[in-house]
Amino acid sequence: MSVDEVVRIFGVPERVELAEGIVVRRYVEEDIAPLVDVVNANLEHLKPWMPWAQEPQTVEQQLDWFREADRGWADGTNYVYGIFDADGRIIGGSGFHIRNGPGVLEIGYWLAADAVGKGIITRVTEALTAVAGGLDDVTRVEIHCDVGNVRSSAVPRRLGYTLVRTEPREIVAPGETGTHEIWSITV
Ligand SMILES: CC(C)(COP(=O)(O)OP(=O)(O)OC[C@H]1O[C@@H](n2cnc3c(N)ncnc32)[C@H](O)[C@@H]1OP(=O)(O)O)[C@@H](O)C(=O)NCCC(=O)NCCS
Repeated sequence: MSVDEVVRIFGVPERVELAEGIVVRRYVEEDIAPLVDVVNANLEHLKPWMPWAQEPQTVEQQLDWFREADRGWADGTNYVYGIFDADGRIIGGSGFHIRNGPGVLEIGYWLAADAVGKGIITRVTEALTAVAGGLDDVTRVEIHCDVGNVRSSAVPRRLGYTLVRTEPREIVAPGETGTHEIWSITV
């Protein structure tokens, strides 16, 4: 594949429902103001690991991000989801990144601090891994995380992913060590 060849994957569902009313779905514009509130209320929790959570966000900035996310959905290059509880409250985010070559989806995630420790991201990731396995042209799912982010790496470990390598990576958030773990599963 040449470096400028864009990988596109289609058929990704906009909504995935889990037990206990947890919903993983594509954001709509009305979600953006509550999303900003949740992120800003969780900055200290997110800052160590999420490069986009270093400063308080504004609705205007996030609307730009939302439009960019919508383009990813339209052109098959990136898929962003919100995670919602049974009351429809935003409790986190996830998604499929397409940036590791043909046939590979990378799952990313974050949770609000008060949603941590309940198995929610493990269940979301398990469901999204199954979704990926049902897509044409997807053969592998990866999860990338800093070696210091033990809560994050516990998720693929719990789900039977294999740690295939570590590699140096630019530090983009203050908790990072500069070494990333690459977890992989064949689907
Ligand atoms: C990474 C992050 C999403 C992990 O959240 P988490 O709550 O630890 O992960 P889960 O939702 O899968 O919950 C796992 C915990 O719930 C428990 N649990 C309860 N029921 C469970 C179930 N049905 N299945 C799995 N785990 C369950 C597990 O034992 C584990 O408990 P522990 O806290 O004692 O280890 C969270 O720490 C976070 O948002 N961090 C900041 C952002 C970030 O780092 N993102 C990742 C960047 S790579």
